[in-house]
Amino acid sequence: TRTVRIAPSILSADFADFAREIRAIEDQGADWVHVDVMDGHFVPNITFGPPAVKAFRPHVRTVMDVHLMIAPVDPYIDAFAEAGADILTAHVEAGPHIHRTLQAIRAAGMRPGVALNPGTPAEAALPLLDLVDLVLVMTVNPGFGGQAYLDMTGKVRTLRAAIGDREIHLEVDGGIDPGTAPGIVTAGADVLVAGSAVFRGGSVEAPEVYGRNIAAI
Ligand code: DX5
Ligand code: ZN
Repeated sequence: TRTVRIAPSILSADFADFAREIRAIEDQGADWVHVDVMDGHFVPNITFGPPAVKAFRPHVRTVMDVHLMIAPVDPYIDAFAEAGADILTAHVEAGPHIHRTLQAIRAAGMRPGVALNPGTPAEAALPLLDLVDLVLVMTVNPGFGGQAYLDMTGKVRTLRAAIGDREIHLEVDGGIDPGTAPGIVTAGADVLVAGSAVFRGGSVEAPEVYGRNIAAI
């Protein structure tokens, strides 16, 4: 059996209190902390950049899983390494030279991931499997939390088969909740990103709710 990890996305957390939010989700059993970086260009939303990620770093005791929704990526790789990202994931759609980007991420000392938008077929990741530690299948069009789930079961199944016994995580992100998680885990996902299902609209009033949701997923 596969170990399934939960990576809550702090995109749905209280932006004025990240230290407390990160502590709460980790206390409640989060395996990784998922950090969504958006540039207002690759996606129609802006979140935070390397200085904010660096500020989160001392509060993350698990794994800081940084999902870049920016283009270009290459000029910022060293800044995210310096900020302390453990995993740095770039979108295959973000530039014309994805091998160069993934190699640069590894060379900077991070674990490289490649993300696929819902409209991008599984095949786009196949030439990259020797370069990555993680493939991220988006189950919404990236940009916002709380969007409706898009079924990517077939894509996940194809990628799980292609990964075989390699040590590559298969992560899904967008609309993951206790209703959608079981089907995609059965298809082969082993890391579940969940924003709104974990944070329930940014409430920090009852940290135990994160644990309940994490356990339910
Ligand atoms: C979407 C981000 C996700 C987002 C998921 O662009 O990449 O990580 O936070 O949020 P939910 O779980 O609410 O769909
Ligand atoms: Zn994400």
